Amino acid sequence: MEAHKQLTIGLFGFGVVGEGLYKILHQTPSLKASIKKVCIKNPQKKRDAPSSLFTTDRYELLNDPQINVIVEVINETEPAFEIVSTALKNKKSVVSASKKMLAEHLPELLRLQESTGESLLYEAAACASIPVIRNLEEYYDNDLLHSMNAIVNGSTNFILTKMFEEGLDFQEALLLAQQLGFAESDPSLDIEGHDAVNKWSILLTHAYGIVEHPQKLVFNGIQNIRLGDAAVAKEKNHDIKLVAQAKKLKNGKVAAFVLPQFVRHDEHLAFVKNEYNGVVLESGFADKQFFYGKGAGSFPTASAVLSDLSALRYQYRYEYKKLYHHLPNELSDDFYVKAYISFDDWKYMPREKIEWIEEWHAGSARKYLVGGLHFSELKANSWWKENNSSLILFPDPIIEDMEIRKLKKKSLELAGIV
Ligand code: HSE
Repeated sequence: MEAHKQLTIGLFGFGVVGEGLYKILHQTPSLKASIKKVCIKNPQKKRDAPSSLFTTDRYELLNDPQINVIVEVINETEPAFEIVSTALKNKKSVVSASKKMLAEHLPELLRLQESTGESLLYEAAACASIPVIRNLEEYYDNDLLHSMNAIVNGSTNFILTKMFEEGLDFQEALLLAQQLGFAESDPSLDIEGHDAVNKWSILLTHAYGIVEHPQKLVFNGIQNIRLGDAAVAKEKNHDIKLVAQAKKLKNGKVAAFVLPQFVRHDEHLAFVKNEYNGVVLESGFADKQFFYGKGAGSFPTASAVLSDLSALRYQYRYEYKKLYHHLPNELSDDFYVKAYISFDDWKYMPREKIEWIEEWHAGSARKYLVGGLHFSELKANSWWKENNSSLILFPDPIIEDMEIRKLKKKSLELAGIV
């Protein structure tokens, strides 16, 4: 068997994750990995490491023949892409945690991995400490994965937990998430669902061989959720979570989106609080499996980088089995979803777009309805997330054609009380 490779690392970024990795590597000498140089943006900032370690010149790392691994954990998307692609072209292995960069540039990065033969690993980019990518690659290397439901953003889950279980207001909870190092430097990326959908597009590639730009997927964040929505959730014995989901439909295609959802108290995802993430996979014969762990923060994220470094010692690389070894799946918009929508005024609700209505509360300042929408409507238009309207899916929200007639009939019966 080939001896384990000595890793000489060039590290880009010394923020929450970079510094976490630096500390962790000092505690794991058995890994035979050492950081030779760290490239940073601002040399004036005080850092808890020898100043000789740092440089602002990226080529000191990228052109150093002794450095055989680049770890890229910076914040900016385009510089991250330039660093990662140059490193691969310069015959270095790469570990990255830049989910936005990876999600937006996946097609180019797939081509670069093929043409250079180098390994690009990014377990830290989705669900931080949970080894979900490697499990999808290695354990679920077949086409039996029926569905994948997950909480993939620690900050929004932290904020929802603090607001609805501990009574903090939104701003207090967000500030705490920022102080603890969970939030993105631009927290709207968390709050409005961008971070979650970036992670989801990465996981869709490993789960189903789907390569889709994240901004083309249907998603929303938690920015419009009000205390009144939490009160309705409570009445129904549900929590509100930002849930990413993917499901194989009867037509053989895949439904995928990231939206707030009512989660029943007895569901696995209801157990996921604060900055924790959780992934529920359902497959042909194993039934349900639940992965749970910290999804943000310095050491949990650095631990996934460490695990990727460890895997590089034996030349591990993603094979993208669902993309290259199976017939890749296609996304579908042809299904319905059952949702709760709260809003300030009826004028913001295009009633003709709502396929059926099961509940209808018009009395108070904040109004709501429970009904069904064709998913293509969510994709084509955004009225459901504008003007303070808040759409929250019901548990098991996906409804396929067969069930629809029954629901529409029930809706017509209910129309008598409208
Ligand atoms: N801002 C991200 C989150 C950090 O809250 O999940 C981890 O990717």
